[in-house]
Amino acid sequence: MLKRTPFDQGDKQNSMITAHEVDKRFGKICALDGVSFEVERGTVVGLLGPNGAGKSTLIRILTTLLKPDSGYVRVAGLDAVSDGKRLRSIIGLAGQSAAVDELLTGRENLELIGLWYHMPKKEYRRRAQETLERLSLVGEADRQVKTYSGGMRRRLDLGASFIADSPVLFLDEPTTGLDPRTRNELWQLVEERVAAGATVLLTTQYMEEAEHLADKIVVIDKGKVIVEGTSGELKAKTGGAILEARVVHAADISRASLLMASLGRGEPRSDIDQRKVSIPAREGAELLLEAGRMFQEAGISLEDIGIRRPTLDEAFLVLTSGTQPLDIAKPSNQEATR
Ligand SMILES: Nc1ncnc2c1ncn2[C@@H]1O[C@H](COP(=O)(O)OP(=O)(O)O)[C@@H](O)[C@H]1O
Ligand SMILES: [Mg+2]
Repeated sequence: MLKRTPFDQGDKQNSMITAHEVDKRFGKICALDGVSFEVERGTVVGLLGPNGAGKSTLIRILTTLLKPDSGYVRVAGLDAVSDGKRLRSIIGLAGQSAAVDELLTGRENLELIGLWYHMPKKEYRRRAQETLERLSLVGEADRQVKTYSGGMRRRLDLGASFIADSPVLFLDEPTTGLDPRTRNELWQLVEERVAAGATVLLTTQYMEEAEHLADKIVVIDKGKVIVEGTSGELKAKTGGAILEARVVHAADISRASLLMASLGRGEPRSDIDQRKVSIPAREGAELLLEAGRMFQEAGISLEDIGIRRPTLDEAFLVLTSGTQPLDIAKPSNQEATR
């Protein structure tokens, strides 16, 4: 594997979170394989990847819960291994399973954080009350956490970073399993922390979440960074175009799908309810003409056909399926399957 040039001059000036060539194995499983990326101060980076990609492992290394086998990570210039204690004092972590004490009330959980940060009692009481109001948890504040819903737990989890006013936040799949309304509330809370100057690294399986919250997206799969950039850049990297056709008769969908497979790359996706078939393809009027001709010859009536930009969802699918992005695909690769 081609190694990246090490950062000989140290981290980039603006880098708040740095991962450099991080490897981590669990026995035979290679969870992280040479992962490098940076998060600039005051920005949000979304670590996007499917289940098992290595996201939580990376978060655990960045938050000193786990040591890398090789490579290093730094947060605010502090090395996670040699400076772990100081590093822990400046970060907030909302884990995949909320790290709150079930037997305590919401309020007690928040006050404990203040105690942990050696705040005077008056101060942490005030902050806890303010935070409960901000999280819309005042009504439940004095109930044991074990009676809370998943969404309430996640909010409380984030609340900890409000109390401590942590400059760096790590959020591991903060909204997995939440309903859309609760998810939106959580997004707002994250945005509030960013507006207050926090730097955020969040992991997610949802492209929509990465697109909504993140300034930069790092796509990770099987322990490797596949690609990084803004959501616009990621969409462009998949080759930029999706050929999409809508047939008049739903009965034609499977024939249309076969036909589309010969026009684009990879596997066509079909949606029977919408009577739509789509596939990553080259851009250009030529392709449209050819497609129109082929559909006509096959006797399949079309309601609509066109070329559009991929959604981030489609970009992600192409990126994590091992299908080469179109812009570097060779003509001989046309039949390459997943
Ligand atoms: N403590 C562990 N022991 C053994 N294997 C682990 C451990 N933690 C994670 N793994 C494995 O490492 C890989 C990455 O896991 P993880 O970082 O949890 O992925 P993600 O958070 O992206 O779903 C998976 O194959 C997982 O099974
Ligand atoms: Mg995980």
